[in-house]
Amino acid sequence: MSADAWSGLHVLAVAQFDDAMLRVLFEAASAMKRMVASKRKSDLLRGRVLANVFFEPSTRTMCSFDAAMKRLGGDVISVSEGTSSAKKGETIEDTVRCLQCYCDVLVMRHPVTGTVAQAASAARKPVINAGDGVGEHPTQALLDLFTMSSSHPRAASADGLGLDGLTLALVGDLKHGRTVHSLSLLASRVAKPPKLHLISPDELRMPAHVHDELVSAGVQLRASDNLAAALADADVLYVTRVQRERFESAEAYQKVAGSYVVDAALMRGAKEDMIVMHPLPRVDEIATDVDADPRARYFEQMENGMYVRMALLALVLGADLTQL
Ligand code: NCD
Repeated sequence: MSADAWSGLHVLAVAQFDDAMLRVLFEAASAMKRMVASKRKSDLLRGRVLANVFFEPSTRTMCSFDAAMKRLGGDVISVSEGTSSAKKGETIEDTVRCLQCYCDVLVMRHPVTGTVAQAASAARKPVINAGDGVGEHPTQALLDLFTMSSSHPRAASADGLGLDGLTLALVGDLKHGRTVHSLSLLASRVAKPPKLHLISPDELRMPAHVHDELVSAGVQLRASDNLAAALADADVLYVTRVQRERFESAEAYQKVAGSYVVDAALMRGAKEDMIVMHPLPRVDEIATDVDADPRARYFEQMENGMYVRMALLALVLGADLTQL
């Protein structure tokens, strides 16, 4: 297995990845985790600069990329909607042509689907999609799959990614949630994929183009609106927020807000070794009484985001990982 497939890559959509690339990345992410535990920081990316360009709010994605670059000895410049010349009418292509003169890699989030890919087409430095509207969020899917593979007891003790034999239940706003678009598509690309169960109200079903791709990839797939009934079979419960900002009206949002709540009482009907994940931020879909349950893994998942992004930055920048 080689790291070459990652070097210089724009990271735009999960269709770019295969099983071999994921193994390289996950091995590197585990090495990053060990490095941080033992010495906090390395000089692997010393002299390199990351531009964090966020045209939509972000806590975890932006800060974990920032911390990832700094833990590897690199530097970070940050641009947000309020501070960019987009306000003056600059095109995204020109913004990228400018920023790439100052940096070695760009991370970009934008509310309009396809805009990050448009930016990448004008870039000679790697561009990483940190979420484009209701489109994709590929780096979140990478950290989600890493967490499933390393944190589910049966997956962690199996050979390879260990996901076959597991049922991944995706719950909530599957229509607008870019994390579940990317995660389900990524799960369908591994050599031995998990089964998928899509759980949402009718109004928030997985978009047809994603659903069709999952079917043509040959994944075992079910869809329903009943979380309680699906729970007993689930090995990974991936809960998502209803994406208020993507609705056309407050009424349409109110109609489906609070559709599902995972709480300690509900967890009594779940498997002993099931794990609960959430990309965060949560609103009210996971009650805080679940946080102390050992099956709750969303904070560990969030921490993994930094290790996976450290690995990703090192790989796309072609760093020699033996120097870590
Ligand atoms: C997600 C996002 O921005 O799509 N957050 C994240 O990156 N961890 C999920 C969300 O906003 O609900």
